[in-house]
Amino acid sequence: MPENSETLLDVQGLTKLFPVRGKTVLPTYRYVQAVKDVSFQVRRGEVLAIVGESGSGKTTLGRMLIRLLEPTAGSIDFDGTSLLALNKTQLRLARSRVQFIFQDPYSSLNPYISVGEAIGEVLEVHKITHTPHERDARVAELLEMVGLRGSAATRYPHEFSGGQRQRVGIARAIAANPDFIVADEPVSALDVSVQAQILNLMSDLRARMGLTMVFISHDLAVVRHIADRVAVMYLGHLMEIATAEDLFRKPMHPYTEALLSAVPAIDRNKVKERQVLHGDIPSPLSPPSGCVFRTRCPYAIEACAKTVPVLETCGSTRSRACIRQDIMNLSEREPA
Ligand SMILES: Nc1ncnc2c1ncn2[C@@H]1O[C@H](COP(=O)(O)OP(=O)(O)OP(=O)(O)O)[C@@H](O)[C@H]1O
Ligand SMILES: [Mg+2]
Repeated sequence: MPENSETLLDVQGLTKLFPVRGKTVLPTYRYVQAVKDVSFQVRRGEVLAIVGESGSGKTTLGRMLIRLLEPTAGSIDFDGTSLLALNKTQLRLARSRVQFIFQDPYSSLNPYISVGEAIGEVLEVHKITHTPHERDARVAELLEMVGLRGSAATRYPHEFSGGQRQRVGIARAIAANPDFIVADEPVSALDVSVQAQILNLMSDLRARMGLTMVFISHDLAVVRHIADRVAVMYLGHLMEIATAEDLFRKPMHPYTEALLSAVPAIDRNKVKERQVLHGDIPSPLSPPSGCVFRTRCPYAIEACAKTVPVLETCGSTRSRACIRQDIMNLSEREPA
């Protein structure tokens, strides 16, 4: 796809292999294929969700997007600049524009420093504020932006509930006025009642600050409320990418269909039989040949073992990686 100014992030062929030492005396290495040949774009201002079962490579992908982790191969262009070509100084500058929100705000916040100091640190590192007075005022403002009192600045992480801690994590992430945020399962550690509040907060901030976001989640019900587009991963591979509306209405990849059918609320109006996935995800140390999903795919044919399907456009706004052209119309769904 040609680059245009609408594209903030352009990822091509992104791959991460983790070497794993064998159990033999001689140091032999095998590789975990955590992310394999993944390509997609994120448009300015949109929320792209990345979904998939545990171990599908979501966190690995998310961390590479902001260079918390070095890719084995592939390219990442951020706002027209190659992120992988940046030297340390350039990377530090870019760091203010890209931020990460963690699943567990407790482990990402230092228990020995107050939340005000934790947020103030970000302001200082990125030279957002210049005097202690300015810094404290901005910290209070940020805390209020995420629905906490400014006076919370003097308190320590353990004095907050899970939801409040995630608000602090969010305040910290937006402190440097980023353009782009990767949020890795930001609500999965929270009670369902609190999840909605945090998701609302993230939606508000996104609109208010014009943020672009990659939102990682294994929970399709969560994604449905926040995502403009959804990318579905399985065993390190991108299986389907589509607008949230299209994907939930009519999945075009057998894996997406199976994932959706496991979500009761979304499944309500479905006429077709439930498509339960059998078996475990194969080991990423020795993924199946051809299509990695074939061993669990109800539509798999012999050819699926021979060809690695490439992500191909199917319709104006979506792509999928499946060689079975004859099963383009998976169960038509009514919007729930
Ligand atoms: N540092 C590492 N060394 C070796 N293997 C790793 C490392 N980090 C991740 N992996 C492996 O890479 C694969 C992808 O892991 P990743 O954490 O990205 O998945 P995920 O989709 O985020 O899963 P979850 O939903 O459980 O968070 C897994 O098989 C995992 O065991
Ligand atoms: Mg993860």
